[in-house]
Amino acid sequence: MKHLLSIEDVSREDVERICARAAAFSENQQREIKKVPALRGRTVLNLFYEASTRTRSSFELAAKRLSADVVNFSASGSSTEKGESLKDTVQTLSAHRPDAIVVRCPWAGAPALVAEWTDAAIINAGDGKHEHPTQALLDIYTLTRRLGSLDGVKIWVVGDVLHSRVARSNILGFQKMGAQVTVAGPPTLLPRDIEAMGVEVRYSLDDLHEADVVYALRMQNERMQQAYLPSMREYASLFQIDERRLGARSLLMHPGPVNRGVELSDGVVDCPQSLILEQVAAGVVVRMAVLFELLAASRAFDPVPEHQSA
Ligand code: NCD
Repeated sequence: MKHLLSIEDVSREDVERICARAAAFSENQQREIKKVPALRGRTVLNLFYEASTRTRSSFELAAKRLSADVVNFSASGSSTEKGESLKDTVQTLSAHRPDAIVVRCPWAGAPALVAEWTDAAIINAGDGKHEHPTQALLDIYTLTRRLGSLDGVKIWVVGDVLHSRVARSNILGFQKMGAQVTVAGPPTLLPRDIEAMGVEVRYSLDDLHEADVVYALRMQNERMQQAYLPSMREYASLFQIDERRLGARSLLMHPGPVNRGVELSDGVVDCPQSLILEQVAAGVVVRMAVLFELLAASRAFDPVPEHQSA
């Protein structure tokens, strides 16, 4: 695997290997000294054109805990504000010879273009409404740690599926691992052809208690160009996951940031069934495993370079 642009770039075996490596790294994270030398001398460039708290901090920490050098670029405060294009920015920063570039941007498909402009391995950290593959991997990791396997597990993805890159990557990722996915939300927030992804579709939360896992999505107001809902109050009254709707044995997940009082009630965010903070912690070790996979794992099988052989 040269790049991670989509969750479709990884097979079930790849996901299992990445999760196993993340689990090994997580043991290390309990120690006083959390750094391992795996990527010493390598450079990771974080290229962020959109707001981020969890993804950016966990990629930075992941690279540092693998002993890589890290350069953080964010569009605000950079020459982007002076009109420099994405291509020029990538080519400029590639002069520093990064081994990996982590890209978050509002343009669907842009990470694939970046991959053509540089020799570095590209990791998609969220591109518009398209995909967010490392989110899917860390959510699969979090769930398999809890449940052992996702085979036959019933996962409901609830809310603004239409604008969510997390929904797309996670539906594909959960199915790859054997889960049965249902999407639920108001018709205006579910893509019209969503059944083609092999999911069940519900327009109410009446049967939500059937779910082994409830995966709530944030209302992506910043991606809405028109009114999709009469009001947030109406949305909350029909689709907010609260103590009454969440089944007693269902696990609760959310990629963050949470709009408390919109998609989730205040109470369920911090309830014992909530895995939200486990997802954040998983972000570091899973991103370590992804960086390792792209920059180190395949090289372990490289033949001895010619000048070193006897
Ligand atoms: C998500 C994103 O940016 O796509 N957040 C994240 O990476 N954890 C989800 C969101 O913004 O709602």
